[in-house]
Formats: sequence, structure tokens, C-alpha cells
Amino acid sequence: MDFAGDVVEAIRPGNDVLYLLDQRLLPERIEYLSCRNGEEVSYAIQVLAVRGAPAIGIAGAYGLWLEALRLREAPDFNHQLYQSANRLEASRPTAVNLSWALQEALKAIDGLVADESVSQLKTFADNLLADDIRSNRRLGDWGLSLFPEPVGILTHCNTGSLATGGYGTALGVIRTLFRAKKLREVFVDETRPLLQGARLTAWELQEDHIPARLITDSMAGAVMAKGWVDGVIVGADRIARNGDTANKIGTYSVAVIAHYHHIPFYVAAPLSTFDAHAVSGADILVEERDPQEVRLIKGQSIAPDGFPAYNPAFDVTPADLISAFITEKGVIQPPYDMAIARMKERRDVAE
Ligand code: MRU
Repeated sequence: MDFAGDVVEAIRPGNDVLYLLDQRLLPERIEYLSCRNGEEVSYAIQVLAVRGAPAIGIAGAYGLWLEALRLREAPDFNHQLYQSANRLEASRPTAVNLSWALQEALKAIDGLVADESVSQLKTFADNLLADDIRSNRRLGDWGLSLFPEPVGILTHCNTGSLATGGYGTALGVIRTLFRAKKLREVFVDETRPLLQGARLTAWELQEDHIPARLITDSMAGAVMAKGWVDGVIVGADRIARNGDTANKIGTYSVAVIAHYHHIPFYVAAPLSTFDAHAVSGADILVEERDPQEVRLIKGQSIAPDGFPAYNPAFDVTPADLISAFITEKGVIQPPYDMAIARMKERRDVAE
């Protein structure tokens, strides 16, 4: 079997346009949005047409390139481009990959004139996309080293090709386990309110013929109590210096249940998701979204109209519930403070 883990590309750059797979329509329809400027990219990020921490970082970088194209004749090019970067950064607050990618993109064009900036920003975004796929594959290999025997894995949200440049982080580890015949079965949390598990992870797993079963979020404890889960692997949106980790709402509950059952709980993320400025989870801003998302499932109302609802998009799992971090440069074991800092400084061991 050709096992590339390459489902439909989430991010596809054109000559003067960025095509983004509209993930709101999956799994029913495969349609691309055509984004021609930063505002359109920003909108796609806000409504979760493109989503997942690494993917919104890459989309943001392409958004800045589109802005440079739009502004190339402007007399105050640099000033306007910085404002565009700020607007793109404000699209979603929790995943550090977005602000990181934009800051790195701006560094890459320091001192260049407009025309040079346009081509440099395109090269930067193309490299970010290619590097992300490469690091996900490495991350998958590191994840494999944690599981000598075939395992049952539970995962939350979507961390696959759709959420990244390709292959995936937590889902990349799952793909690598499957390829190495080390995977018995995957339990996929549906991931309310927006169903990234049911709509997106289930779709990616089905495309790759990976054995899996969908469960509602409330079933995770029962499945663990049956002894079917040997490890939990999730992704991350922002990891603080002490290891506290923001990820999709519901991750914290899964970590608590896994802890009770003595099941290892792993976070798979590229080093760009580690935020050196966040000392602990208390420094992480958790996005709150429209409460209407909680009252609806795929547009269908499930609660009395206007009933008060609370909708944090992410939660923070304390570091002491996390057994290890799987990164593209290796596995980080606790205690985390120094280990995370050392890993970020390390030269690429796999090269
Ligand atoms: O709101 P989303 O769908 O963007 O949330 C995505 C997640 O929480 C993922 O687990 C995280 O971004 C890691 S994706 C490799």
C-alpha cells in the first residue's frame, strides 16, 4: 500500500492565491476557498475553514505573502505589512504557531525592498510547509520508540494532515505506528462542540484504512476501564516552559481519566508549539468562541433557543498529567523546565 498519509492537501499555494480546503464542509464535501489577501486568510482562520496549530501558522505565513503582493507598490510598504501581520496574528489567540510563523516571516524580510520581500515571503511560507511535513514524519518515528508492543491509542480532536502541513503530529505518530504494525486500534473522541474528531480524524483514518472506532467524548473513561487503551496521544496549541499544555477543549478531562487508569498520556507537537514566553499555563490565553457553537450540532439546535452556554475552545492540561512530549528532535521526559529549554536549543539529531 502506498502509505504516504497524504489525504487531500489542506493548504495549496497558487501563483497569487492561497487555496484552503474548507474543513467546515468535511467529510461531506471537498471544496477549496480561494484567498487573495490577508483578510480572506484571516477570515478562513477565524471560522476554522483552516485549523490546527501548525496549519494556521503556515496559512498565516502565506497570508502575509499575499499582503506583500497586494501592497508591493505602496510607499509605506513596511508599515502596512506590519499592520497586516498584526491583523493576521489576531485571527486566533491560543495557538502560538500563528504568531511564531508571522514573527519569523517578518525577520526573514528585514532590510529587503518590497519586490524582494514578496519573493522571500513566498519562499519562507513554502519552506515552512515543507519543513512541517518533514518534522511530522520525524516526530512519528520518535513516537514509535515509546511503544514496543502493538497498542490501542485514544486521541482527541484532529492533529493529522488537515491540521498541519501534512502527515500530522499525534495522528502522524498513529500513522507511523500503523505502518510499523504496532497499532491495534484507535479510539477517536468526537470532540464537541465542532466535532473535529468525528468529522476530520475519522475521515483521515478511514482514507488510510487505519482500524479505529469513534466514541463520544463522554465514553473515554469507559473505554479505558475496559483496558482497550494503552496510551493517549494528543496535539497541542501552545506549551508553556513548565510543560503546561493548551489543546482542544476536553483534552484536560482525558488526561485526568488517563492518570486515574495509569495510562500514559503523550503530547505530540513540533518545537514551534513550545512558547518560551509562557512560564506556565496561567500565561496562555484561551480563546472563547460563540456560545451558539455549543447549542448547535452541524447547524441543528440541541438546546432551548438562546439558553446560556460557555464555549472555551481550548483547555490547559497541567504538566504533571503529561507522561512525555514527542517532538521532531526527540522525546522530552519530565521534569520539563530544563528539558524543554535544552531540546529547543538542540541541533537536529535526525539530520
Ligand atoms: O480549534 P482547532 O480545531 O484549531 O483546534 C485544534 C487542536 O486543538 C489541535 O489538537 C492542535 O492544534 C494540534 S494540531 C496538530
